[in-house]
Amino acid sequence: MPSSHERKTGGSAANQTAGPVHVEENLRRLDRLANLGLVSASAAHEIKNGLVAINTYFEMLAERDGEQEMTSVVRRELKRIDLLVTQMLRHSIAQPPTRSNVQIHRLLDYSLRLLEHQMLGRKIVLKRDYLATPDEINGDESQLQQAFMNLLLNAVEAIDRNGELTVSTEIRSSPGGRSLNIRIRDSGPGIAPENLTHLFQPFFTTKRNGTGLGLAICQRVVQEHRGTVEVNSSAGQGSTFVISLPAE
Ligand SMILES: Nc1ncnc2c1ncn2[C@@H]1O[C@H](COP(=O)(O)OP(=O)(O)O)[C@@H](O)[C@H]1O
Ligand SMILES: [Mg+2]
Repeated sequence: MPSSHERKTGGSAANQTAGPVHVEENLRRLDRLANLGLVSASAAHEIKNGLVAINTYFEMLAERDGEQEMTSVVRRELKRIDLLVTQMLRHSIAQPPTRSNVQIHRLLDYSLRLLEHQMLGRKIVLKRDYLATPDEINGDESQLQQAFMNLLLNAVEAIDRNGELTVSTEIRSSPGGRSLNIRIRDSGPGIAPENLTHLFQPFFTTKRNGTGLGLAICQRVVQEHRGTVEVNSSAGQGSTFVISLPAE
């Protein structure tokens, strides 16, 4: 992985490092974009709570003070902030899921296409093994995409360079009902046992620039779909994440 030291060398070395550094930065940007929803949702909630308190106290003070011009400026600004925050919330994951029939294979392909460039730059070979028929489930397409993206990004980051990413699906029947399983396997270094228990905690990261939000968000989305996400990994063995969604 290119270090920040390499990044600063610039000059004549710039040509050699431009590829990997570029790829690295794109990947980080994708990760940030994928998680913007949750971050802005939490921030918007906090701001909204604060605004309610400010509004209440402000109206009390305004009644006592009677300063017309100043109070109307503050009122207008508070209203503007409230509107902005409401819009932020509306566009974030805090929204109740919008359900529709989602074609999982199409959604996986779409997510993989967003990473095509990164995988090419890192010489990562992609294998697809889509066996689930039908592959349709009822769910929130954009939230599911966010969940897939987070797992795929982690896989690409884990492999770093020269490896294999396998995405497969299947239908499983159990006494509890039918489920659609989505398996994302990478040939990366695997996960140390002591980290396995912390993986899904928000802000747990072992990466220098990590947010530690990807898996937490993935789990939250999957749970909202009454599914589960599990990981199988040991150091040196690569990792497999399995999302299991109810398929009626
Ligand atoms: N495919 C994987 N291979 C190895 N480690 C992983 C993999 N996916 C996740 N991890 C570990 O889980 C941590 C948390 O992942 P995540 O929540 O996506 O946050 P981030 O990617 O920002 O670190 C990572 O920092 C890494 O240690
Ligand atoms: Mg991540």
